[in-house]
Amino acid sequence: DNPASVKRQLAQLFELSLRATVPDEPDVVPLVDACAVKGGVKFGDYQCNNAMGVWSTVKGKQTGFRGPPAIGEAILNNLPPSEMIDSCSVAGPGFVNVVLSKKWIAQRVQRMLVDGIDAWAPRLPVKRALVDFSSPNIAKEMHVGHLRSTIIGDTLARMFEFSRVECVVRRNHVGDWGTQFGMLITYLFEKFPNPDDLSEAAIGDLQALYKASKVRFDSDPEFKLRAQQAVVRLQSGEIKYRKAWKQICDVSRAEFDKVYQRLGVQLEERGESFYNPYIPGVLEKLDNLGLIEESDGARVIYVEGVNIPVIAVKRDGGYNYFSTDLASLWYRLNEEKLEWIVYVTDIGQQQHFDMLFKAYRRAGWLPKDENAYPKCTHVGFGLVLGEDGKRFRSRSSEVVRLVDLLDEAKRRCRTSILERDTAKDWSEEEIEKTSEAIGYGAVKYADLKINRLTNYTFNFDQMLNDKGNTAVYLQYAHARICSIIRKSGRDIEEVKRNGEIVLDSEDERALGLHLLQFPEVFEEACTNLLPNLLCEYLYNLSEIFTKKFYPNCQVVGSPEETSRLLLCEATVIVMRHCFYLLGIEPVYRL
Ligand code: ARG
Repeated sequence: DNPASVKRQLAQLFELSLRATVPDEPDVVPLVDACAVKGGVKFGDYQCNNAMGVWSTVKGKQTGFRGPPAIGEAILNNLPPSEMIDSCSVAGPGFVNVVLSKKWIAQRVQRMLVDGIDAWAPRLPVKRALVDFSSPNIAKEMHVGHLRSTIIGDTLARMFEFSRVECVVRRNHVGDWGTQFGMLITYLFEKFPNPDDLSEAAIGDLQALYKASKVRFDSDPEFKLRAQQAVVRLQSGEIKYRKAWKQICDVSRAEFDKVYQRLGVQLEERGESFYNPYIPGVLEKLDNLGLIEESDGARVIYVEGVNIPVIAVKRDGGYNYFSTDLASLWYRLNEEKLEWIVYVTDIGQQQHFDMLFKAYRRAGWLPKDENAYPKCTHVGFGLVLGEDGKRFRSRSSEVVRLVDLLDEAKRRCRTSILERDTAKDWSEEEIEKTSEAIGYGAVKYADLKINRLTNYTFNFDQMLNDKGNTAVYLQYAHARICSIIRKSGRDIEEVKRNGEIVLDSEDERALGLHLLQFPEVFEEACTNLLPNLLCEYLYNLSEIFTKKFYPNCQVVGSPEETSRLLLCEATVIVMRHCFYLLGIEPVYRL
């Protein structure tokens, strides 16, 4: 719920009107939407689309209405008077178009300048939420899919934080408990027979280590046997094995942290291993509820709508990815008391999570109604593709090192900054900071701007283009507005206190209205966990500013300077807030 949403406020007015128009139909819900441009014209700012629906419920009943247009007229006439509204009209089959009062728009924008953008935050009905994201696997590749999960997950966590969720847990569910450890440790022990020689430095390149031990594992049956025994010895807690395991994890963690640090992403690690002690207990509870069946020596769970069962315990008695998630979800619900748990992974894991949630519903551990709390949501995303349309790989090797990617983005930005006249007098520090803000921001924005469910093509030239829908373009727009404010020489805090926004021209009004629509766009992005809606909003905001307001409304030195400066300030505040939600560092001059 968000009281700052224009759409919601109008819906409340239309709700009153609908109750008066069709008193016998109390279930009719107001349908209010922003107007789209049709054939180059807009009939209003918002429209109420109820007339046709109401007509189909009341036709044949004795209401006196002769069709949707008449219902539209009645809805319009029953609308309570409001300072929000300038005028209304009925169009086509009963659409009620609303033109908002420009004075009201101006006042609302001004209020935000005084109260701050937090006044535009919605309130989610949960106090404790968790985003399970990034979650790479130790000693395996941290691939671009994990980069996507990191970027999307970070934004979702920021969205929850902005929505006043008291506790937002940013959880890194690293894969630190797979059978790969048996192989790795056995290989390490072979290379370093004296355990004292086994240091983090000796472990070195985990990727290479993984490859080499895999070759041994696949070619030597005796090694394979030892590796399998090593898994058992590790899991039963044998000191020597535990120690090697921990050393491997530490090396891996240091690698991951480099990526997180560059991206400015906070994460709290709690790997799969943490939940291992909880698995037997959770399985026992499920067994007592009669959910566990025997199949081919394995212990399985059947869930609604899926023919094949999910394996909770393997034939050899070992646990798997699913066993761990059964236990971790139990822990999250019961020990951490989380009310909304969001998992961010590629869509390939959709079935895994679908079955996990269904098993929980079967057990009665999650409400039957998927939208009720406590709630679990899988946030899936598409593949990252290379320019050849195939899975993204680097030229030299199978995997793309994420740090290399970020370095490359930064390097390219640095080059283009150095080519600019305006950067001539910049300090090395400013050049460095700006290249990072633009380069890393570009990588994030390119990912976040497309609907997460679609595959995404990684392309440096595209994401760094300063004319398209890119972070670079947005950074320029933001910096340009900041420079207008600077050039005025006015103290913007003083202007905020004493100035007034007036939206006399069409372009000023369009900018004001778009600013005011932030709360409803944010609410939709949050409800559907779709950061791309925020990107679209942000892009449109800078388009309206750059293509409508800027060329037609002189700011500095004009009679409207004060009002227009306030509009500039409101625009940068909303832009920066969007940047913040998307994890992008703004730059103030370029
Ligand atoms: N480690 C997994 C992977 O790389 C992702 C883990 C997602 N979280 C979870 N609770 N299963 O695919």
